[in-house]
Amino acid sequence: MLAGKRILLIIGGGIAAYKALELIRLFSKAGASVVPVLTRAGEQFVTPLSVSALAGARVHQELFDLTAEAEMGHIQLSRAADLVVVAPATADLLGKMATGRADDLASTLLMATDKRVLVAPAMNVRMWQHPAMRRNMALLAGDGVAVVGPDAGEMACGEFGPGRMAEPPAIVAAVEAMLGAGPLAGRHVLVTSGPTHEPIDPVRFIANRSSGAQGTALAAALRDLGARVTFVTGPATVPPPVGVAVVRVETAREMLGAVEAALPADAAVMAAAVADWRVANAGAQKMKKDGSGRAPALEFAENPDILARVSQGANRPKLVIGFAAETEKVVEHATAKRARKGCDWIVANDVSPETGIMGGSENAVVLISAEGAEVWPRMGKDAVARQLAERIAGALA
Ligand code: CTP
Repeated sequence: MLAGKRILLIIGGGIAAYKALELIRLFSKAGASVVPVLTRAGEQFVTPLSVSALAGARVHQELFDLTAEAEMGHIQLSRAADLVVVAPATADLLGKMATGRADDLASTLLMATDKRVLVAPAMNVRMWQHPAMRRNMALLAGDGVAVVGPDAGEMACGEFGPGRMAEPPAIVAAVEAMLGAGPLAGRHVLVTSGPTHEPIDPVRFIANRSSGAQGTALAAALRDLGARVTFVTGPATVPPPVGVAVVRVETAREMLGAVEAALPADAAVMAAAVADWRVANAGAQKMKKDGSGRAPALEFAENPDILARVSQGANRPKLVIGFAAETEKVVEHATAKRARKGCDWIVANDVSPETGIMGGSENAVVLISAEGAEVWPRMGKDAVARQLAERIAGALA
């Protein structure tokens, strides 16, 4: 059910636009209110009058509509919704989204929103399969845009294949899942991600090669199952997912502070590659060469072990999961790490350079729990994230 939810529905210009009318009816039936936006091309397929009559609301069409700006500016319009749905999402609209263009009301709203976006693509099969479209969809997936469909079948243009817009009930189901009707609805999950940077002086730091890809994928997968996610991230190269509460930190000690502030949680997943050591004698000013040719002597102090603190702390989540980056004896070291830190599961992986895992898009993990070691096949970090999120949902059920 979508009672009390507000959906910003952008109707693009494709023959499937007629299905958007049925979609509005289904959203209303499920208890949601729909704020419709009709693109200029969309208007060629459905009339503003039928859209507004079904939605019981004004249709927004023009970017520079002064009356609307006085009532509700386009920024506010994009933020007041719980979710943005683009149906049909044409090749043109998806292309604009992928490249960040904002030259009409729909594309501007899509750039300005801070809410999650679901697209229901609809186009000719050749267009859907075109390399440019593949590129755009990959970019949009990276931006956290959710996709429903397209379905395969006979198309209005007479060709056959994928490209038909998903049926309205499937779009409503996807919206329900995104708005927290999933198995982790009502749960709070804390995820740490990325490297930490430990300063040497104001301009230099010690870091590691973590991109934050696995932690980011995990946060997105948990969010997709309906969890409220707090994402505590070091300076990662992969941007954080949308639809989660992002807390940016730099050092291990800052990460510990952010983690403790985010508790209580039902589960904590520590995917961050935390620096074990910080520079104890970090300079307040930039360290200068003294001309003697002698290297400066850095002294190190051990950083707090965030995973161990959370596992052994008073506010311990029901499920605490650590990661173990190893370069040899993966199962042996990870099993010992699980016992030493006191967490429930350890997701272990081999980060030897030849595996290409650290900084790469794939992962090959072993899940260590009280039941022993479970070897997962090598797969994309997104797939690892989805499987792990489902396991977490199962353990919290
Ligand atoms: N971790 C942490 N705080 C630290 C170091 C690590 O919370 N100061 C967490 C990581 O987020 C990860 C797990 O501990 O979930 C394992 O990290 P890893 O660096 O692989 O293990 P270490 O504890 O550093 O052990 P070792 O140095 O023996 O590999």
